[in-house]
Amino acid sequence: MKTSELKSFKQSKEKIACLTAYDASFAELFEYCGVDVLLVGDSLGNVIKGQENTLSVSMKDICYHTSNVAKGSQQALIIADLPYKSYISKEVTLKNANMLIDSGAHMVKLEGGREHESSFKALQDNGIPVCGHLGLLPQSVEELGGYKVQGKDEHGAKKIIEDAVMLESWGVDAIVLECIPSKLAAIISMALTIPTIGIGAGSDCDGQILVCYDMLGINTKKAPKFVKNFLSAEQDIKSAVKSYVSAVKDKSYPAKEHTY
Ligand code: KIV
Repeated sequence: MKTSELKSFKQSKEKIACLTAYDASFAELFEYCGVDVLLVGDSLGNVIKGQENTLSVSMKDICYHTSNVAKGSQQALIIADLPYKSYISKEVTLKNANMLIDSGAHMVKLEGGREHESSFKALQDNGIPVCGHLGLLPQSVEELGGYKVQGKDEHGAKKIIEDAVMLESWGVDAIVLECIPSKLAAIISMALTIPTIGIGAGSDCDGQILVCYDMLGINTKKAPKFVKNFLSAEQDIKSAVKSYVSAVKDKSYPAKEHTY
């Protein structure tokens, strides 16, 4: 899929089905089952490296997993995360974003809003497609005091809305909205012409994403409220992924019980 096609999903009101992927086999299978977008997320820090957060993920890690995902994928749009501290200045951002593109990503993602203006603008000026990420920012989990729903009060909600509008004006191609009230995500999705991709942000986002391990129930700890295990009602992984894609497309996932 080309980056420009993302916007046409929104225009035609077709929901975008996204999953994280970290290797060629899953990338191939997800794409075969109809997943539109594969995110090489820094959640690999948690699910692959076994860390408590994403902060130890390096450029080397993301490049390695991006090149593996690119090997397994023919059509899906591949987004790769710029990891913690990899976008501290516009020069560093550009160098690292180019490394991700050279590894096979079509778009890069970074967390945060106005504080990264120069990085967003440098990416735009250099023609690198970019996805924003607002709401709960896992790379700032220490500053946020844990994995908590964001934008619950008026001040917090206003800041997220303003950041989303700013990102669109800087040429960002899509925005992940993580763990915010569904009403806030609906307001943002209505206000923007670029697609929003929700995780714990309700069914009015233009697309949905889950960490693939969560979607397959590969965890022993209590999962967050927005997670649904699609394998528990199916015979095999292919059927589970197909069921996730159809639930996103027909808007049955996320349901009320998955939203804040
Ligand atoms: O790293 C990741 O997997 C992500 C998703 C949670 C959106 O950023």
